[in-house]
Amino acid sequence: MKISLSVIKADIGGYVGHSSSHPEVLDKAEKCIAAAKKAGLLIDYHVTRCGDDLQLIMTHQHGEEDEKIHKLAWDTFVDCTKIAKKLKLHGAGQDMLADAFSGNVKGMGPGVAEMEFEEREAETIIIFMADKTASGAWNLPLYKIFADPFNTIGLVIAGNMHGGFSFEVHDVKEHKKIVFNAPEEIYDMLVFIGAPGRFAVKAVYHRESGEIAAVSSTQRLSLMAGRYVGKDDPVCIVRSQGHFPAVGEVLEPFASPNIVEGWMRGSHHGPLMPVAVRESNPSRFDGPPRVIAAGFQLSGGKLVGPQDMFDDPAFNNARQQANDIADMLRRLGPFEPHRLPLEEMEYTTMPEVMKKLEGRFKSI
Ligand code: F6R
Ligand code: MG
Ligand code: MG
Repeated sequence: MKISLSVIKADIGGYVGHSSSHPEVLDKAEKCIAAAKKAGLLIDYHVTRCGDDLQLIMTHQHGEEDEKIHKLAWDTFVDCTKIAKKLKLHGAGQDMLADAFSGNVKGMGPGVAEMEFEEREAETIIIFMADKTASGAWNLPLYKIFADPFNTIGLVIAGNMHGGFSFEVHDVKEHKKIVFNAPEEIYDMLVFIGAPGRFAVKAVYHRESGEIAAVSSTQRLSLMAGRYVGKDDPVCIVRSQGHFPAVGEVLEPFASPNIVEGWMRGSHHGPLMPVAVRESNPSRFDGPPRVIAAGFQLSGGKLVGPQDMFDDPAFNNARQQANDIADMLRRLGPFEPHRLPLEEMEYTTMPEVMKKLEGRFKSI
């Protein structure tokens, strides 16, 4: 049975500030999506949130980039924005960059990750969702999951994974893509994906079967809007078990916190802290950035779950380390490398300050 899995998300208003989501907004989203399921458009759904981002997880049989599915997500965000405005939530409608829906939510503000696949005998799925960070945040974990034998022992000792995985990498500024084969091209690939502000892993494929293994949202809000409107707060779907990495191999990269861009005003580097959904309320200096993981088994497209995968004391040390890294970076205040380098600040106040001081810069 061919199943499509769509994860479409947007920040349509925060409670309180940009730290979390309001229950009434989540309720509204639940009602909108439930109605679509009742009408037969969806097989199943799960509505959740990561920090101030509303997450719509939907299964159906309409393929990727389907207009009806995208319109459902857009209309849901519009209805939820009305609630956010009524409650005067902070930044109500902030990710809704377009005035009206035009066929596909891509380029309109919301983030999207979608895949279509033949449902296996047991179809294990992990959906990662992050807040206060940018789309390249998945580069390092995806590399570890699908190309690093120190993380994924299956690459070494499981015959069905030994052939490796291929990575589709997008240049988000030049709008180009390239495919790298792991393991033999990892040195070439790392030149690019080690620069996550510009190159993002869009998808990963199992080389022997050609099957889709992972897909991420690579939409960059600032590049769409041409100004700072909030961070991308990306999502990523990973298929697990069998000829894909085991659940523990998929989660393992998050046991040692990655440093990502985002955090306060989207202008800092900070640790990506793995947390349970209930703990995804970034408050300290509007962070540090959070990641949640929702695990499901699919049964004829029905989402059996979620299991809150980071709700596990085994990730306590990672959370402690993230807090220690946060303390250390915060000491730097407005200095790099806590604050992002100038090129990354071009969508914030930088251009205005430069303009104001234009005449005062003298040649030396
Ligand atoms: C970061 C983020 C927050 C805001 C900050 C200022 O992605 O959302 O750190 O940038 O709270 O928010 P505004 O400008 O909405 O008052
Ligand atoms: Mg926000
Ligand atoms: Mg957010």
